[in-house]
Amino acid sequence: MTTAKTTTNRQDIERYIRVDHAGERAAQQIYRGQLVVLDKHPMGEEIRHMMAQEVEHLETFDSLINERRVRPSLLDPLWGAAGFALGVVTAAMGPKAAMACTIAVEEVIGEHYQKQAENLGEDEAELRTKIERFRDEELEHRDIAVDYKGREARHYKLLHDVIQTGCRTAIKIAEKI
Ligand SMILES: [Fe+2]
Ligand SMILES: [Fe+2]
Repeated sequence: MTTAKTTTNRQDIERYIRVDHAGERAAQQIYRGQLVVLDKHPMGEEIRHMMAQEVEHLETFDSLINERRVRPSLLDPLWGAAGFALGVVTAAMGPKAAMACTIAVEEVIGEHYQKQAENLGEDEAELRTKIERFRDEELEHRDIAVDYKGREARHYKLLHDVIQTGCRTAIKIAEKI
């Protein structure tokens, strides 16, 4: 699928692990925040399923941070807090807004993982396989949110664009800091 190079730049790998760890920190907190509001809602089950997958993603990058001695983002607690706040606020706006948030976030993350997978060489085939699986799961989350009518949320376009701008900015920061 991807025509992989032979070797991957070490700095790229460290950057990927740092930013992915930060992103998954935020992701599982988004769903945790949404569940504060939507725990008893029929959507709760689906949100719990997505959260469980995000927790597994986070644990994977937690292990990679340790194994490869990558410095985590200095703003690690901030990413968790920001994710939680985003989850609570969008869920408080209603179940469709919560799903609109999921669509916006998962589109960005799916794209982000795709770019990383394309840049990982044969020497990182194992990491690439993991990232490709996570990409597929993020896109599944997006599809679930579309099925739950996230695109019918009030002010969908505005909400979607604001959240995506926030995510892209956070990615740029977490790659470096
Ligand atoms: Fe994830
Ligand atoms: Fe996800």
